[in-house]
Amino acid sequence: MKILITGGAGFIGSHVVRRFVKNYPNYSIFNLDKLTYAGNLENLKDIEHSSNYKFLKGDIVDEAFVFEIFKDFSFDGVIHLAAESHVDRSIKDPLAFVRTNVIGTVNLLNAAREFWEKDKVDKRFYHVSTDEVYGSLGIEGLFTETTSYNPNSPYSASKASSDHFVRAYGETYDLPYVISNCSNNYGPYHFPEKLIPLFINNIIHNKPLPVYGDGKYTRDWLFVEDHARAIDLIFHKGKNTETYNIGGYNEWQNIDLVRLLCNLMDSKLKRPTGSSEKLITYVTDRPGHDLRYAIDANKITEELGWTPSVTFEEGLSQTIDWFLKNKPWLDNITSGEYMDYYNRQYQQ
Ligand code: NAD
Ligand code: DAU
Repeated sequence: MKILITGGAGFIGSHVVRRFVKNYPNYSIFNLDKLTYAGNLENLKDIEHSSNYKFLKGDIVDEAFVFEIFKDFSFDGVIHLAAESHVDRSIKDPLAFVRTNVIGTVNLLNAAREFWEKDKVDKRFYHVSTDEVYGSLGIEGLFTETTSYNPNSPYSASKASSDHFVRAYGETYDLPYVISNCSNNYGPYHFPEKLIPLFINNIIHNKPLPVYGDGKYTRDWLFVEDHARAIDLIFHKGKNTETYNIGGYNEWQNIDLVRLLCNLMDSKLKRPTGSSEKLITYVTDRPGHDLRYAIDANKITEELGWTPSVTFEEGLSQTIDWFLKNKPWLDNITSGEYMDYYNRQYQQ
């Protein structure tokens, strides 16, 4: 099998690439990534010389390039993760999200449609999406696969649009596809613009921890390797035209999560208990901030036997240890473009 994984140099993509390269020596894994600020080949150092792995640098928005690689490599499957992924950046620059998340996805769909037209057997387009397409929950309830779409940020609107295009290509052109919508991931290689790695980095450097609004927003956190395992299962055993929700059954209000993180960091950095909590600073809220996400993952559990394997306490502790052990990785990322972004976002 020749599999194209897009966005493989990013956070989740690098875990998926590593898993496929290691677990499927008979497959050829092609990682297509533009290497934006979020893409980093350091994330794949340990497998970069594997004989079943090839890196393709390119932009999914470039139609000619996308068609060329489909022609050159005759992929049997696509696992599409490449995206602009940060909500705050989408508020500042929505068009960048339309380009990559919508037009980029449609370019991939067009190439798959054309090159698979004569033989769709054993072909599959797997679109990796987010629970944010469903909008916000109130204090009760869970997102299921039939919850209607109600995206509130430019990021989630662009992901919702891409999900609709994938479904439409299934209906209109009979393209074999599957979609998953996952909750918030965390773990090694997480880019430090997102809550958990940003706060780990700021605690290390004794910088303020900018909690948006009242901190009562709720997310459902999943360890990234559990997401990669779910993607593997869905790619191999999921049913065409189906959607699978993936979540951790692990809801945390931001402020409670931040307090837990502060305590763990104090103990790992051997600082007096309470020192990191002193860094908590309430700042202006994110516009259009979704109150709560929470996933009903019954379908993937019942159909495919998937459940999260790592508890939050274990996963968070492992994640902190990884960041503390990989300071050079973090230091390389948190310079240049990152500092410009950071200063603009947090007005320092
Ligand atoms: P990320 O921002 O860490 O990585 C995105 C990757 O895509 C980077 O390597 C980047 O270089 C690449 N990329 C961006 N634009 C590109 C383009 N035009 N052409 C080619 N490559 C491009 O993102 P992530 O957090 O790993 O998310 C991966 C996917 O999973 C996204 O589709 C996202 O919507 C989805 N998702 C993320 C989460 C989460 O919690 N992070 C949860 C659910 C779903
Ligand atoms: O739910 C899945 C989504 O999770 C993915 O589709 C997105 O790609 C991913 O970025 C993530 O989106 P969130 O907006 O939930 O993640 P983020 O880490 O940006 O924020 C988590 C919560 O923390 C959210 O309520 C906003 C809050 N927050 C975030 C930052 C960066 C803060 O309070 N302060 C901050 O500085």
